[in-house]
Amino acid sequence: MKDTVTIIDNATGKQIDCPVYQGTYGPRVIDTQALYKKLGMFTLDPGFVTTASCRSAITYLDGEEGILLYRGYPIEQLAEHSTYLEVCYLLLYGELPTAIQMLEFEEAIKTRQLVHEHLTRSYAGYRYDAHPMSIMVGITGALSSYYHEALDINDPDDRDLTAIRIIGKMPTIAAHCHKHSVGHPFVYPNYSLGYVENFMNMMFSHPSRPYELNPKAVRALDLLLILHADHEQNAGTSTVRLAGSAEANPFACIAAGMATLWGRAHGGANEAVIHMLNQIGDRKNILNFIKRAKDKSDPFRLMGFGHRVYKNYDPRAKIIREACHDLLQEMDTVDQPLFEIAMELERIALEDEYFLKRKLYPNVDYYSGIILKALEIPLPMYTVMFAVARSAGWISQWMEMISDADRRIGRPRQLYTGPVRRDYAPVELRGPITAVLRNS
Ligand code: SDX
Repeated sequence: MKDTVTIIDNATGKQIDCPVYQGTYGPRVIDTQALYKKLGMFTLDPGFVTTASCRSAITYLDGEEGILLYRGYPIEQLAEHSTYLEVCYLLLYGELPTAIQMLEFEEAIKTRQLVHEHLTRSYAGYRYDAHPMSIMVGITGALSSYYHEALDINDPDDRDLTAIRIIGKMPTIAAHCHKHSVGHPFVYPNYSLGYVENFMNMMFSHPSRPYELNPKAVRALDLLLILHADHEQNAGTSTVRLAGSAEANPFACIAAGMATLWGRAHGGANEAVIHMLNQIGDRKNILNFIKRAKDKSDPFRLMGFGHRVYKNYDPRAKIIREACHDLLQEMDTVDQPLFEIAMELERIALEDEYFLKRKLYPNVDYYSGIILKALEIPLPMYTVMFAVARSAGWISQWMEMISDADRRIGRPRQLYTGPVRRDYAPVELRGPITAVLRNS
C-alpha cells in the first residue's frame, strides 16, 4: 500500500491523500505540495520547525539522539581522524578522497587562495573598528565582481571552480579582516603551508617578528573548522539555498548566508558566550544569571544553550568540551577562570528543571569561544571563524540545490491577518486638518 496521509478539510468535506516519504534516516515527511491545488489551503509553520525544505544527501542530524553525520560519516570519527580540507572534499563530492584526489584538491585550493589585489584595497573603505563580519559579508559579495568569468550556474565546471575559490579564499579574506582591524600589513597566502597553518600565518605573522606555528593550536583550529563545516538546513544554509533558488550568483548567496550567521541567535552566539561569561565574571554570580535566563521579563538568555534541533547534548559541544580540557593541559593561554565559570554554569544549568524540561543543552557555540580565546583569535573574529568553516557546507548545499532537476524559486506563502479591503480616503476625511505644529 502506498504510504500516504489523508488530510480532510472538515469545513468542506474535501480530502487529499498526501504522499509520505521515508529518507535514509529521520522522520517520514508528508508531501503537501498539492494541498493548495486540491484543498485551497496552505500550511502554517513559523520558523519552519516541522518543515522539510528540500531533499539533501549531505548532512544528517538527529536532535533527540545527538547524532551528526557528514555524508554518512559520524562527526566523532571525522573529528578524530580527518582534516578540515578532507571534510570539504567529502561535503562537496560525497566521498572521502583517495590520496591522489586529495593532493589534486589541495593543489587546486592552494592556487586559489590569493584575493585580487584590487579587492584587498577595498578594505580601506571600512572603519578600522568595523565588526569583521561586516567586512566579510561585503568582500565575499564583491568576489563576484572579480570572478564573473566562471559564474554560469548551469555549468558544472564553473560551479566546481567557484566552490574551490570560496574554500580557498575564505581564510585569506578572514585574515585580512583581522589585519585591517589592527592596522597591520596584510600577509599573503604561503603556498608551502597547509590550509590551517596558512590561515594562522596570515592572521598572526608580523613583518617585524618571526611567527612560530604551534602544532597543538593548528590541530585545535582544524578540529573547530571540521565541527562547524555543515549542519543541515540551519538558518544560514537555508538563506544560501533561498538566494540560490533565485539564481543569484554563488558569491552573493554565500554572503547572504554569512549575514544570517552573524545573528546572535545563530553563529554570533560564540562571541555572545564569551561576553556572557565575562559579564558573569565570577562563579558566585552564576545563580543570579541562571535566574535571569529563566525570567521571561528579562531579555537575558543563556548564550550557547539550546538548539532548534538538538534536544540532547550537541555532539559537537561534547567534542569541543574535551578539546578545551586538552588545551587546558597543553596551552597556558587557555583562560582557566573563564573555562571554570563555563563548566560550573553548565553543571548548574543541567541540574535545573527549567533547562531540563525544555531540553536546553550546551550547543556548539558554548565552548568554541574558549578554544578560540586560547588560540588568541580576537573576540570579534569568532563568528568569522564560524563563517570560514561553514563556507564549505554552504557551497556544498548550494551545489546540491543548483544541480537538482526539481529546483524552483523558493517562495513561501503566509496567513494574512491585515485589514479587509477598503477604499482610499482623502486626507480631509481622515481627521482634524488643523494642528498646532510643535516647535513651529
Ligand atoms: C547555532 O540550527 C542550527 O543548526 C544552528 C547551528 C549551526 O551549526 O548552524 O547549530 C549553530 O546557531 C547554535 C545555536 C546558537 N544560539 C545560541 O546559543 C543562542 C541562545 N539559544 C537560543 O536563542 C535558542 O535556544 C535557539 C535560538 C538556539 C533555539 O530557539 P528555538 O528552537 O526557537 O527555541 P525556543 O526559542 O522556542 O525556546 C523554547 C523554550 C522557550 O521557553 P518557553 O517559551 O517554552 O517557556 O526554551 C527557552 C525559550 O525561552 N530557551 C531559553 C534558551 N533557549 C531557549 N531560555 C534561556 N536561555 C536560552 N538559551
